Amino acid sequence: MRHLLSTADLDVTTAVRILDTAAQMAATQSREIKKLPTLRGRTVVNLFFEDSTRTRISFETAAKRLSADVINFSAKGSSVSKGESLKDTALTLQAMGADAVVIRHQASGAPHTLAASGWVDSSVINAGDGTHQHPTQALLDAYTMRRHLAGDAVGVGDVGRDLSGLRVVIVGDVLHSRVARSNVLLLRTLGADVTLVAPPTLVPVGVEAWPCRVSYDLDPVLRDQQPDAVMMLRVQRERMTGGGSGGGAFFPNPVEYTRGYGLDRRRLALLPDHAIVMHPGPMNRGLEISADAADSPRAVIVEQVTNGVAVRMAVLYLLLAGDLAEQKNVEERVV
Ligand code: CP
Repeated sequence: MRHLLSTADLDVTTAVRILDTAAQMAATQSREIKKLPTLRGRTVVNLFFEDSTRTRISFETAAKRLSADVINFSAKGSSVSKGESLKDTALTLQAMGADAVVIRHQASGAPHTLAASGWVDSSVINAGDGTHQHPTQALLDAYTMRRHLAGDAVGVGDVGRDLSGLRVVIVGDVLHSRVARSNVLLLRTLGADVTLVAPPTLVPVGVEAWPCRVSYDLDPVLRDQQPDAVMMLRVQRERMTGGGSGGGAFFPNPVEYTRGYGLDRRRLALLPDHAIVMHPGPMNRGLEISADAADSPRAVIVEQVTNGVAVRMAVLYLLLAGDLAEQKNVEERVV
């Protein structure tokens, strides 16, 4: 595998391989000296056309922990604001010798365009494109579930383990969520059972073809399914253009939304004791998730951010130094 563009491209062997490698990377991060020499001399470019806190900082940290040189490019303050195209931006990066380009773009499909274009020789990693995909978010979510729910609680854990039998409920603005799309595909590949819950206005056309159940009613799903993990999605106000057919949606009434789809103390009490609460961030506290739920002992939201570094180290390592096709144990090369 040369690029990471979509969780649709990951079979179970490859996905588990990335999670196992992330566990090995995480084990190295508890040492006094966290830095590994693995990508010395390589250059990773973070190409962000859309705002990000977690993903951008996490990729930068991951690349630096592997000793790569990192170039951070943000559209704001660059020649993109003067009208420079993706092609010319990519050719500029190629001229600087990038080995990997981590791209976030507001247009769904931009990473695929870059990977297929021949404008760059480097590996392309999708860090979120429009409403389409966010594969490293789904991988860090799966990694977090595995640590808490599938016997991988000590870091390295059960190598080779998938998420068979886990019940995951994903709640909220599915229409605009690349996190939901990436998670549904990856979780199914890993054997989990997924239910989406959303108001009818925030469910995408064609969701019947997704490998999951869909419900419009949160309380019965929580009560009857007793999920192992509940993932709350951000209400993406900035993508709600109210455009009608094919585009956008109107911003929901916040009080009605919270009453129908917000996770609060009452709904937390419907969950089994072992269930974890997840959110990719950034959160709208008081809208899709209450402060009680976000700060509860069962919330793993901050840990998701920590795990993102190990998962992105694994992805960079496997794309630039490892060989995803070989399926060799890399422990001796990273520990
Ligand atoms: N989860 C996530 O993608 O967060 P950022 O937008 O802050 O990167």
